Amino acid sequence: MLPLRLLALLALFLAVWADCPCQEPALCGPILHRPDFEVFVFDVGQKTWKSYDWSQITTVAVFGKYDSELMCYAHSKGARVVLKGDVPLKDIIDPSFRASWIAQKLHLAKTQYMDGINIDIEQEVNCSSPEYNALTALVKETTESFHHEIEGSQVTFDVAWSPKNIDRRCYNYTGIADACDFLFVMSYDEQSQVWSECIAAANAPYNQTLSGYNDYIKMGISPKKLVMGVPWYGYDYPCLNLSEDSAGRFHQVWYDNPQSISLKAAYIQNYGLRGIGMWNANCLDYSGDAEAKQQTEEMWEALKPKL
Ligand SMILES: *[C@@H]1O[C@H](CO)[C@@H](O)[C@H](O)[C@H]1NC(C)=O
Ligand SMILES: *[C@@H]1O[C@H](CO)[C@@H](O)[C@H](O)[C@H]1NC(C)=O
Ligand SMILES: *[C@@H]1O[C@H](CO)[C@@H](O)[C@H](O)[C@H]1NC(C)=O
Ligand SMILES: *[C@@H]1O[C@H](CO)[C@@H](O)[C@H](O)[C@H]1NC(C)=O
Repeated sequence: MLPLRLLALLALFLAVWADCPCQEPALCGPILHRPDFEVFVFDVGQKTWKSYDWSQITTVAVFGKYDSELMCYAHSKGARVVLKGDVPLKDIIDPSFRASWIAQKLHLAKTQYMDGINIDIEQEVNCSSPEYNALTALVKETTESFHHEIEGSQVTFDVAWSPKNIDRRCYNYTGIADACDFLFVMSYDEQSQVWSECIAAANAPYNQTLSGYNDYIKMGISPKKLVMGVPWYGYDYPCLNLSEDSAGRFHQVWYDNPQSISLKAAYIQNYGLRGIGMWNANCLDYSGDAEAKQQTEEMWEALKPKL
């Protein structure tokens, strides 16, 4: 007869794996490997993930509908799969609300065999408001709960391209960085500060992008807590008045290409950042058309650190 303790363990094991949607039940287990270099990928849905460069991906943040096939596949490649976390900031001032929000996310992560959460709160916070400290507390408590409950789990937080309270987001950046595994720095939409008229310009200009990292590092955040987010999208500005008789059919288009991304990736290496990622991986053309295929490959290739 099996000792009681072993039976209990077996029952627990069966309960955990019983609902595993993967062909190989072990794929429902958490990812424990800690990569030296993060390639953090946002996925917004559908099946283009099948064409991603999985030799590089370390984390997929699922911002589309939950897809168990994606979870199983990512796990088979050793990549973490994380939830999206967003919550109205006025609610999190209440510690009991925070606790129930975290419990709910944890439950979701466990039932979907996810490896953590990416907290994406892109809301204004007044420096002297109660939300300021509540947000840091939310991140800290989420990290503690996830690390305690899901082995190897990862908790990350999305911040704007600069810590200078972009879009009126006054956050405790050093406190939040300490409270989670790393920050995903959204180095794009860098024109967002324009509250009046917007003039066509780059989405993520090189110098401005790097100045954001310099500022994060200057305030005491370790480069190892920073993952650089690059845009895999651009902006198409219809020209209002290019010339007197223009019918507005001229456009100015700004986007990042493999060259501009490689330059940013070189900074990552020189400054020892934790890794790279993009908003979002679905943006490329995965149709398989010969020209698209080559360009798409070059975009993925540009993420790699050059030796
Ligand atoms: C921030 O909050 C303070 C105190 O409630 C208020 O006086 C101030 O106007 C607010 N600032 C902004 C930018 O909302
Ligand atoms: C930021 O958060 C940390 C940890 O909670 C705290 O020690 C620090 O005083 C906070 N900094 C500011 C400027 O509020
Ligand atoms: C970017 O920064 C470099 C080094 O500080 C400077 O030489 C260059 O002129 C800058 N470029 C732009 C477009 O501001
Ligand atoms: C475009 O240019 C014409 C001629 O210079 C001017 O009359 C018109 O007001 C301009 N329109 C806008 C939207 O600036």
